[in-house]
Amino acid sequence: MATTGRPRAMSGTIPSMESAGEALKDNTVIVVLGASGDLAKKKTYPALFGLYRMGYLPRDVKIVGYARTKMDTAEYHKRITSYLKVADDDEEGQAKIAEFKTFSSYVSGGYEDGPSFENLNKTIESIEANYQGPEKNRLFYFALPPSVFIPVAQHLREQCYSTSGKNRIIVEKPFGKDLESCRVLLKSLKQHWTEDETFRIDHYLGKEMVKNILVLRFANVAMGAGWDKNSISNVQITFKEPFGTEGRGGYFDEFGIIRDILQNHLLQVLSVLTMERPVSFSAEDIRDEKVKVLRAIPPIERSDTLLGQYVSANGKPGYLDDDTVPPNSVCPTYAATTLWIHNPRWEGVPFILKAGKALNEAKVEVRIQFKDVTQGIFKDISRNELVIRIQPSEAVYLKLNTKIPGLKTRAIPTEMDLTYKRRFTDAKIPEAYEALILDALRGDHSNFVRDDELDVAWKIFTPILHWIEGKSGPAPKPVPYPYGSRGPKELDPFIGKYGFRRTVQDYTWPTSNISVL
Ligand code: BG6
Repeated sequence: MATTGRPRAMSGTIPSMESAGEALKDNTVIVVLGASGDLAKKKTYPALFGLYRMGYLPRDVKIVGYARTKMDTAEYHKRITSYLKVADDDEEGQAKIAEFKTFSSYVSGGYEDGPSFENLNKTIESIEANYQGPEKNRLFYFALPPSVFIPVAQHLREQCYSTSGKNRIIVEKPFGKDLESCRVLLKSLKQHWTEDETFRIDHYLGKEMVKNILVLRFANVAMGAGWDKNSISNVQITFKEPFGTEGRGGYFDEFGIIRDILQNHLLQVLSVLTMERPVSFSAEDIRDEKVKVLRAIPPIERSDTLLGQYVSANGKPGYLDDDTVPPNSVCPTYAATTLWIHNPRWEGVPFILKAGKALNEAKVEVRIQFKDVTQGIFKDISRNELVIRIQPSEAVYLKLNTKIPGLKTRAIPTEMDLTYKRRFTDAKIPEAYEALILDALRGDHSNFVRDDELDVAWKIFTPILHWIEGKSGPAPKPVPYPYGSRGPKELDPFIGKYGFRRTVQDYTWPTSNISVL
């Protein structure tokens, strides 16, 4: 991780770590279901446009939006381009938007009736009539509420399945609400779509820094050497958002922060961080290792849980002030839970997953705190920490103790710092959704969630979720924390009890010059 010296252009052979799949190259129609909704507008279409602009969509691709809303082409084009980040004076970008519209059309129809899907199929067939060659591929993206997953999956399979090419579906969380409902959902989807045709998105797996964890760990002997219970004291995986539910309270209240963030996004990060080295980069080898480590995690104990709910502060409304939230809701908007992995590498190391809404900053990071150096020559010296900053401002830094330069012999904490925007000045970090849609087009499942991964993830979280919902005795009341704060005041003692120790001297990252006078 040497970060000094002038950055050089990358040259020579850069090893490829892409898993081979069957790519959809030509003659592909992408159907976005739920095209009038927020997810499609904010994530799916911008990702499709980004891929188109970078030249990654299949040749002659056509995009068909499908939703219940009736709208004409002009209105549809306005919606799907409203979140594209292209400046008005960017002529090339504006020209690409104009091109993007020429192959994006819209069909309206219901989600639960056969004739609507027959109509959608006719539209797809009329597009395909202009394709050369026998192969006709279809990729269906579900930007849909979970209540219609099953009828849509069924109708697509019955009315819109290409018999002369490949068919794939991309589905989004929530995959059920607990172990039982997840199993029901998986079983119903499997009646219509095979595991190979199904791509379950957890968009955290598409984030650049999350994808980097595999390389950091397994392509560096220096990293691998200390990656276990002998060197590591505790690990925190943290998600912080500076805004509350703001109008999305109805949805959120049904799910809560654990289902929204911990059970999926943070657990996925944990599994990549702790799995053993896969035999190869093939999707199944990677996912086998993830499942194996998750199976070594028992259900979370109530005593390893801290729950919070934000209250009004600094002129901002509390969670219960949101009109879309039921009065007296005890839904947690903050949760810290500690997981334990019972295998030889990790026995005894606490993994603290914490996530909250309406906090003081936007930040997602992994913080691996190493053990104390053995006592004797050093007293009160800071611990090493390896921090993987997932967002914003991707970085990896290792906090190290260094001798203060000069004639005195004293140690201070400083860092080796790989900050992406300094090191890779001309790199464009792809959006997670761009990376994942491209993987689905390529047929690479590595960064998608397999059915057995979901099953084991729910096993870990279902008992505390049922407890929180009052299904196994009285529901616990989350502790209050002010909007815009670091979280509940109980947080520091909570992480303290798992052995986390703050850096001895004042230290904040990114650091600038350290005065040693
Ligand atoms: C989604 C959650 O899955 O992830 C949202 O439902 C959350 O509540 C979002 O805001 C965070 O994603 P990102 O990419 O902004 O970190």
